[in-house]
Amino acid sequence: MPKNLTDGTSRNAKEGLLLQPILFGDLNLPNRVVMAPLTRMRTPNEGAVPNDLMREYYEQRASAGLIISEGTFVSDQARGWFGAPGVYTEQQRKGWQRITDDVHRAGGHMIVQLWHQGSISNRELVGHGRSPLSASAVNPEQLVHTGYGVTEMTQVPMAMTLDEIQQTIADFRHASKVARDAGFDGVQIQGGFVYLFQQFMQANLNLRTDSYGGSIENRARLLFEVLEAVLEVWPSSRVGVKAGPMMPERGGFRSSTSTLPTAEYVYRRLNDYHLSHVMLMRQQADLSGTPIESLEGDGVLHHFRKLYSGTLMLNVDISPGRGEQLLREGLGELIAFGRDYIANPDLVDRIRTGSRFNPQRPEGYYGATAEGYTDYPTMSEPATSQGEVQYARL
Ligand SMILES: Cc1cc2nc3c(=O)[nH]c(=O)nc-3n(C[C@H](O)[C@H](O)[C@H](O)COP(=O)(O)O)c2cc1C
Repeated sequence: MPKNLTDGTSRNAKEGLLLQPILFGDLNLPNRVVMAPLTRMRTPNEGAVPNDLMREYYEQRASAGLIISEGTFVSDQARGWFGAPGVYTEQQRKGWQRITDDVHRAGGHMIVQLWHQGSISNRELVGHGRSPLSASAVNPEQLVHTGYGVTEMTQVPMAMTLDEIQQTIADFRHASKVARDAGFDGVQIQGGFVYLFQQFMQANLNLRTDSYGGSIENRARLLFEVLEAVLEVWPSSRVGVKAGPMMPERGGFRSSTSTLPTAEYVYRRLNDYHLSHVMLMRQQADLSGTPIESLEGDGVLHHFRKLYSGTLMLNVDISPGRGEQLLREGLGELIAFGRDYIANPDLVDRIRTGSRFNPQRPEGYYGATAEGYTDYPTMSEPATSQGEVQYARL
């Protein structure tokens, strides 16, 4: 168990652990409610520069114990989702600075999720006439979001040369500096799901015969080399990793007999780095009949809790009531809420008062405007949204 926990049972116990402060690395968070990383496509400009609409959106959610930004690209080469922002140019730094300033003024904390999509992209998104790059030239067979409501299938990427691997590591180091200079409180490396690091770890997508392919240690090497580059910029107390065995179980991302040992290797090794957190996902896809079926439901939390002794942030389909139980069982230290944070800017107050949640409007998850983005009311504002108000999922 992490030593950096404050004793949540003594103070204000009736509010539950979820609303108790916690020491996160060296940051004092007022509660354990985290806003999960959420791509919202509100940065449709060529330079992927964060804007005032995003500033309003994040500021509205500053009462979260911690905000994790939407996935944010570390370079042009890393791009792979239309309308998502970057954190590698001066313009992007300025845009984020206005956002982190506002979040801090409102009493919040915010880290950036560093993102490289690898093969989940196309030439147009990458730009400069370049192809998406990945571990090997294998089509991951996933959808790429190329516009509002527009997707296309991935193509065969180019395999990274050793120089391009070094460039990727340098890009993460550079983006980490820009993030620091933009006023973020830390970073989280997106190490899971279908993105670059998972492409290297996934045996069927990594056919390399050099030191980045073959054994588990080799397939996970890029993640740890990037982590060490990020740690040249930030102290470990401000760095986290999102990792684990959960994938969409479609196309090139289906679990194999190597999936669990690979994720176990990553978690065991992450123990050595004394990071601010590791973010662990419950399953999103149906795991029945897969080699990781035993990780269904909370199985994945029990399994990886045993392997990882630092601060765990748990996510996917966890209601506040269930989150409270998971914290009490010691399965994690923080709970991240995704969709609940889209619809409830004042989620912490609603949890505190046991109030209703706003109804979700999924049609606004991805879009260009304030609609479905900054127009979800707080409890003190009149509800303008249509549909029935749902009760908090306690
Ligand atoms: C609209 C949307 C965008 C998302 N974007 C990201 C992202 O940029 N990075 C990431 O790691 N996860 C992303 N996710 C996954 C969420 O962080 C979270 O895991 C998911 O919503 C499940 O948590 P929940 O059940 O609390 O909603 C996204 C999910 C949604 C619904």
